[in-house]
Amino acid sequence: MSDRILVVDDEAVLRGNLVRFLDRTGHEVEGVASGEEALERLAAHDFAVVITDLKMPGMGGEALLRRVTAEHPQTLVLVITAFASLESAIEALRHGAQDYLLKPLSLDELTRKVDRLLEVRELEQRVARLRREVHQRFDTDGIVAESAGMKQVMELVRKAAGSRSSVLVEGESGTGKELVARALHDQSPWADKDFIAVNLAAQPRDLVDATLFGHEKGAFTGAARGRDGVFRAARGGTVFLDEISEMPLEVQVKLLRVLENREVLPLGADRPVPVDFRLVAATNKPLRAEVEAGRFREDLFFRVEILKIRIPPLRERPEGIPALARRLLARHAVTQRRNPPQLSHEALRRLQAYRWPGNVRELSNVLERAVLLGGGEWIEVADLPSALSSTEPPPDVMDLKAALAGFERRHIERVLAHCDGDKNLAAERLGIHLATLYRHMERLGLG
Ligand SMILES: Nc1ncnc2c1ncn2[C@@H]1O[C@H](COP(=O)(O)OP(=O)(O)OP(=O)(O)O)[C@@H](O)[C@H]1O
Ligand SMILES: [Mg+2]
Repeated sequence: MSDRILVVDDEAVLRGNLVRFLDRTGHEVEGVASGEEALERLAAHDFAVVITDLKMPGMGGEALLRRVTAEHPQTLVLVITAFASLESAIEALRHGAQDYLLKPLSLDELTRKVDRLLEVRELEQRVARLRREVHQRFDTDGIVAESAGMKQVMELVRKAAGSRSSVLVEGESGTGKELVARALHDQSPWADKDFIAVNLAAQPRDLVDATLFGHEKGAFTGAARGRDGVFRAARGGTVFLDEISEMPLEVQVKLLRVLENREVLPLGADRPVPVDFRLVAATNKPLRAEVEAGRFREDLFFRVEILKIRIPPLRERPEGIPALARRLLARHAVTQRRNPPQLSHEALRRLQAYRWPGNVRELSNVLERAVLLGGGEWIEVADLPSALSSTEPPPDVMDLKAALAGFERRHIERVLAHCDGDKNLAAERLGIHLATLYRHMERLGLG
C-alpha cells in the first residue's frame, strides 16, 4: 500500500503550498480543488491520508469525510479549519476524522501530524496482517473437511472468499453453515474487518428493521440514541444474515434496495448513507421452495444467491465422521480437562450408520455426553444414547466408497494390533510401502 497523500482545498494558493511542501519533505502527494474530484481520485487510487479543507463550494469537507470513512476506511482524514470554527473540527473528529489542523497552518504541526498518521496507518496494517494470519491458522484448525462433500465445500469457500458477490449457504440445521460463513470471511482480503452476524429468527419482528438499517436519534419514542445498523457498521466487512428465509416480506423489500443501491436509509434520516459490505446469508430451508411458496421475493432471491454453497447433511458423508469425531472429542476433552478418549470400532460403526437429523451439532452433543459419562479411555456403544445403542444398526446402506473405507480401516487396525503397532512390519504384512500406509491412516482417520 502506498503512503500517498491527497490535498483537497479550493484555494489554489494554499493547496499549492501544501502540495509543494509535502512533496519537498519526501511524500507522494496530489492536490485537487473539490470534494467531487477527491472522490474520483480515491476511486482510482489508494491514498494513505486525505487532508481536506472543511469549507468548500459544492461538496464540503464534512460530506467528503463521511464518504471517505464509509467507502475508504483505510484512508485517514485530516481536516483543516479556521480557529474561529473549532467546533466544526470537533464535529469532524466525531465523524471519523483522525485529527485537524488550524489555520493559519504551521508547517511544523503539519509535518508532525502527517508523520503520526502515517505511523498509525502502518501499525493498523501490521495488526490487520497479524490478525489475518491468526484467523487463517485458526480456520484450518477449526473446520474438519475429510469427506469428499466437505472438501468440495471448502474448495468453493476458497474460490468465493475473494469476491464481493453475495453468497447463500444452504444446509440442514447443524451442518456447519455459520462455520462456513466465518471461513468465507476469514479467508477474504477483508478478514481484518468485522464479521457481523444477525439471526433473523431470533430477532423480535419490530427490532429487525432497526438492527439491519439503523435509525437516527429520536426517530421513534425511546430512541434516545442513534444506531448504525449492521450494513453501516460492517465498514467493508461481512454481514452474515442467518435464517434469511425468516425475514418478513416488508423487510425483504428494503434489503433488496440496499443490495441494489449500496446505501441504506436509516429510520428518521432524510438522506441515504452509502454502505460497504459483503453479504453472506444462510438458510436451512431451500430458498427456491420459499420463493415458490410466495414467502420469499424472487428478485431478492436472485440477489442473495449469486453464489450458492450447499453443505451436505452428515448422513451423506459418513466417511468424514472418524476425523470429525476425533476433533470433537478433543474439543470436549479440553473443556472437561481430561485426555481425549478413543472410539471403539463398534461405537464408530454406529456413529457412521446413524441418520443424524441434527447433523454435526448432534454428533458433537452425543460425543460430549459420552466423554462426560464414559469416563474411561474408550467410548463404547453403551456410552452412546439409546437411539444409537439400543437397536442393532440397520445393515450398512452407506455408499460403496464409505463401506470400503470402513473395511480398510478395520483391516488396517487389525493388522496394526497384530504387529503391536509396528508400522514397518504392518506395511510389510499389508504389502504396501510405509509411506502409503501413513497416507491411508491419515485418510481413514487412524493414528
Ligand atoms: N466441518 C466441521 N468441522 C468442525 N466442526 C464443525 C464442522 N461442522 C460443524 N461443526 C460444529 O458443529 C456445530 C454446529 O455448526 P454451525 O453452528 O456452524 O451449524 P449451523 O448450520 O449454523 O447450525 P444451525 O442451522 O442450527 O444454525 C458447531 O459447534 C460447529 O463448530
Ligand atoms: Mg447457525
